[in-house]
Amino acid sequence: MTKFSKIALCALIIGSSAFFTSCKDDDAAPVQPQTLYQKLGGTTMVTDPNDSSKMIEQGRLSFRSVVDSTVVLIVADIVAGNEGNLGAHFAPLAGEVFGTPANATNVAVLSKNLTDFFAANTGGGATNTYSGLGMVAAHDPAQNPRMGAKSTDADYDRFIGFVGAAAGKNGVTDQALIGEVVAVLESLRAPIVQDPQ
Ligand code: HEM
Repeated sequence: MTKFSKIALCALIIGSSAFFTSCKDDDAAPVQPQTLYQKLGGTTMVTDPNDSSKMIEQGRLSFRSVVDSTVVLIVADIVAGNEGNLGAHFAPLAGEVFGTPANATNVAVLSKNLTDFFAANTGGGATNTYSGLGMVAAHDPAQNPRMGAKSTDADYDRFIGFVGAAAGKNGVTDQALIGEVVAVLESLRAPIVQDPQ
């Protein structure tokens, strides 16, 4: 092979490998944006801190932790008797929790339903399905006797504030991530707020 044809062959090989490389780049699957569920830990299995004999997906655990802290904050606000607390709305639940004997069964049911709801609606996949009421029915006392009173915008703002505080308590401090959670919450304001005041 002449020196010239060797150079030409090399140029052809380098050129074609660059061609194939660029073809490969073009054909590569587009990078899928992460779902909120994935950003909160996704399907990675971890030990359930509430029951060390069980495993739980980290994404689901993140939501459950925030939900449980939110419920604690709502109840503490009611107990403190703060102006604007959500005691009237959660009266049936609060009546059970503070009744004699105290009954927390429906707190656990609410925690599960809220966790299912958030996980299923943020990319949680088949392991997270929500089977409770729709948002309009769940927050209409005429359709859900467990809803003690219709919600106003101010009640909704208070609720979102508790979710934000609960997220912080559970280590969700990334502002972009919190912004995404708030966007999900805001998207539900219209069906849930049913008292125009
Ligand atoms: C993003 C906001 C909210 C979401 C995603 C949400 C979601 C839910 C879900 C999934 C349930 C369970 C429904 C069922 O059992 O079938 C529920 C129940 C309930 N929600 Fe909400 N909710 C939100 C805001 C609020 C607000 C602002 C209030 C009150 C002002 C409220 C009060 C209640 C009450 C009282 C119940 C019934 C609890 C019980 O079963 O004892 N929610 N909500």
